[in-house]
Amino acid sequence: MSLISLKNITKSYSFDKNNYQILKDINLEIQQGELLSIVGPSGSGKSTLLKIIGLLDTPNSGSIKINELDCSKISENKQTILRRDFIGFIFQSYNLLPDFTALENVVIPQNIMGIPIKKAISRANELFKELKIDNKCHNYPNQLSGGEQQRVAIARSLVNKPKLILADEPTGNLDAENTNNIAKILEKISKEHRITTIVVTHDMNIAKNADKIYCLNDGKLEIQK
Ligand SMILES: Nc1ncnc2c1ncn2[C@@H]1O[C@H](COP(=O)(O)OP(=O)(O)OP(=O)(O)O)[C@@H](O)[C@H]1O
Ligand SMILES: [Mg+2]
Repeated sequence: MSLISLKNITKSYSFDKNNYQILKDINLEIQQGELLSIVGPSGSGKSTLLKIIGLLDTPNSGSIKINELDCSKISENKQTILRRDFIGFIFQSYNLLPDFTALENVVIPQNIMGIPIKKAISRANELFKELKIDNKCHNYPNQLSGGEQQRVAIARSLVNKPKLILADEPTGNLDAENTNNIAKILEKISKEHRITTIVVTHDMNIAKNADKIYCLNDGKLEIQK
């Protein structure tokens, strides 16, 4: 049984009286624990596809199943709960709250979800140790390097123990050394925690670490490895 199953997904946008077909009949099966990368030219629809998988956008047609649950058939409220409990997101721009410390950035989302503060801090500290940023936990985002900020964002994405991590250009703003570091962390997370991880990237150095590489081109998804 696949963890994620996409069947005949299409997505188009209308613009200036023209209709642009971005995703054309995408089919994809993803197993639990798999590390997947998606590459493709700019504008090919990689972020669109990732948002559809993350239930942040809806396709024009086709179905998306998570754990055999047909997500197009459930209420928006249930989709939100699924997103919250099941999926962790990592973005190029880190999206940290600037007025809160690194630790608070990871603790606050848990607290909003009803996890008691002591437990939230202890879970955040565990992750900070694992990601080797425990010495920076009281720094504010603007007192952290790009690589450190992204590790805080990764810790935040992991706090609710998601089954699926979706990363959109997670190293887009980083230099070569930090890029390698983040790539290794994503690989470690997917293998040790058995979290299914999908990484959208321009960088073949990151893509090559994946179990499978897909290329999105002209609306079609083709397997490369
Ligand atoms: N809300 C929208 N309305 C109209 N067109 C859109 C909308 N969102 C995305 N698009 C178009 O869909 C196409 C795919 O966009 P998407 O962001 O998925 O590409 P991408 O592969 O992630 O590109 P990049 O590598 O530059 O991030 C682009 O041509 C974009 O202009
Ligand atoms: Mg994109």
